[in-house]
Amino acid sequence: MTTPVLELRSVDKSFGPIDVLHKISLKVRAGEVLCLLGDNGAGKSTLIKTLAGVHKPTRGQILMDGKEVSFDRPRDAQDMGIATVHQFGGTFPLMSIGRSFFVGAEPTKGWGPFKIYDRKKANEIAVKAVQDFGITRVDDGDRLIGGLSGGERQSLAIARAVHFGARVLILDEPTAALGVKQAAHVLRIVKEAQRRGLAVIFITHQVMHAMAVGDHFAVLIRGAVAADFVKGQKSREEITDLMAGGETMADLEAQISSDLATADGHPSPATL
Ligand SMILES: Nc1ncnc2c1ncn2[C@@H]1O[C@H](COP(=O)(O)OP(=O)(O)O)[C@@H](O)[C@H]1O
Ligand SMILES: [Mg+2]
Repeated sequence: MTTPVLELRSVDKSFGPIDVLHKISLKVRAGEVLCLLGDNGAGKSTLIKTLAGVHKPTRGQILMDGKEVSFDRPRDAQDMGIATVHQFGGTFPLMSIGRSFFVGAEPTKGWGPFKIYDRKKANEIAVKAVQDFGITRVDDGDRLIGGLSGGERQSLAIARAVHFGARVLILDEPTAALGVKQAAHVLRIVKEAQRRGLAVIFITHQVMHAMAVGDHFAVLIRGAVAADFVKGQKSREEITDLMAGGETMADLEAQISSDLATADGHPSPATL
């Protein structure tokens, strides 16, 4: 087995008296997709912010290539090759595709005080990188980000991370706000990033999306890893039940119909 690109060992995170993450241990290797599943409030965002240098672990270790690392700010994690893509792609609607691709790292032409942003070059590189990921609809780097679909923005953000040498790609609910077709598109891009050898951490509460791309799965419940398994070990129903905290969906459905029956069709004020 190769050394994981990224590993967490017994990571705890508390905010003052509030313990959010409990002894989280996870690994992800190059060319592997780790799906992090969990209901709202399970601690998924806190976990990725800890990996992205936004939060420091209260206890425990983060290792890259087997060596302990410590991030004081997001820039440190980025410099180590950890790229985080958020739900909306994290880009500015009024920026062009070329600009947003290079924001902070624009190619320039000229010299010294005469240096100017090389728009043509930026556009060429950005469009090529995006098309290499199979997004052929993007062919003009001057187009504004605001004109792209949600799926295209996500894809652009992923292509950008790969272009700038990310080794770990963290995707926080990339498909949550997308329709079926757009989501399928983003899932294909995730597979492409994996094929190129990135270690991918894919956060979702959509079991079908996780099953479509995941090699390895971890279910987070109230800040702890409640289950950790590999592709093929659990069915869709088993995973859904795990996320619901061990309550089977059948139990939940029975509970809901009995609640509805006792409410006699009128929800009680307490449930409003
Ligand atoms: N900065 C913070 N201070 C206090 N509590 C927090 C903070 N950030 C998150 N939490 C709490 O941690 C829990 C997990 O939140 P979060 O990581 O956003 O979950 P998820 O992304 O799985 O929905 C929630 O109960 C939330 O209120
Ligand atoms: Mg979240």
